[in-house]
Amino acid sequence: MLVLGIESSCDETALALVDDNGVKASVLSSQADIHALFGGVVPEVASREHARLIGPLLDSLFAKADLGPDPWKRIDRIAVTRGPGLLGCLLVGVAFAKALSLAHDIPLIGVDHLHGHLLAAGLENNIEWPALGVLISGGHTHLYRMESPVKMEVLGRTIDDAAGEACDKFAKMAGLPYPGGALLDALGKHGKADPHLFPRPYTHNDNLDFSFSGLKTAGALWLSQHPETHFPAGESPARERLPLASQELCDAAASYLLAVAETLVIKARRAMQSFRPRCLIVAGGVAANSVVRREFETLAAERRIPLLIPALSLCGDNAVMIAQAGWHMAQAGRHHSLALSAVPRGQAIPEDWQETL
Ligand code: KG4
Ligand code: ZN
Repeated sequence: MLVLGIESSCDETALALVDDNGVKASVLSSQADIHALFGGVVPEVASREHARLIGPLLDSLFAKADLGPDPWKRIDRIAVTRGPGLLGCLLVGVAFAKALSLAHDIPLIGVDHLHGHLLAAGLENNIEWPALGVLISGGHTHLYRMESPVKMEVLGRTIDDAAGEACDKFAKMAGLPYPGGALLDALGKHGKADPHLFPRPYTHNDNLDFSFSGLKTAGALWLSQHPETHFPAGESPARERLPLASQELCDAAASYLLAVAETLVIKARRAMQSFRPRCLIVAGGVAANSVVRREFETLAAERRIPLLIPALSLCGDNAVMIAQAGWHMAQAGRHHSLALSAVPRGQAIPEDWQETL
């Protein structure tokens, strides 16, 4: 079965083809440089860019995949991110997918973006069920009990900021450009973490939810008290200026990332008390973080279960994960009607699929 995946929930426009053997082709265009000028994603700008890019990207995908004279005869399902995300951005992808579905009479599948992130871990490794899923991205921090590719229960979530947001805000306040998570990681690698510098917020309770706003405040306070440590301004790309960063900032970055990672691990360990997962999945943009990876490796080793993290190229937003999640939904005999809705961040994704054709 060949599935076309479409992703446009935030600032990446992406398309991919996945079949029974894995990834067949994938294309992605990031708007990060455009939004960096504004210090964050501007929804209106993002949706216009998606609308501009999505058609030409489909041509590039087909050129890469070499599907013969009539690619549409080869595609069995069209899977699209329906949410959560920025509504205007989602609508571009969903409307595009509906048009293709209608024009070529190919069943449509609406995918939960967060399930896509988690299932990307199954592309290179076998997921053993049930799994504990830790989804850490720019907009979400969720813990999942994953029973199967199509049955996932949210055990806990952030009540305010997401882990990625906390990293991006600290980076921004320190003078790094948006999105600063990866740059903070690069700085932290040259620093020595002080485990007492920042708090492990919202862990002195017995629930599985997260709150990163307190950590963000502690980070802001430290940075305001140490203005001399801030990242030096300059014209050249920030990556090239990383060697100019102060040692104090590198140390603070390492300490801050340790606080983020340990907070995530405390709650993940607690979630393992409610059921016995057979594997641990860590996914989403922040799963690319070296400290987060290291801390979860320790947790998985302690529990003697495998740790599955998607390949670095599949940690951030992409369409491979959406095609892959759509492939699983198709295997479970599910599809959606043309009434498929786009669901903005903060709203539950409805279970409104239809059974096998
Ligand atoms: O999953 P993703 O690409 O998009 C969303 O769905 O949000 O996640 C983006 C987030 C951003 O906050 C970005 O700064 C963060 O992932 N991120 C990182 C790293 N790479 C990306 N955060 C910390 N360390 C990294 N290496
Ligand atoms: Zn994402």
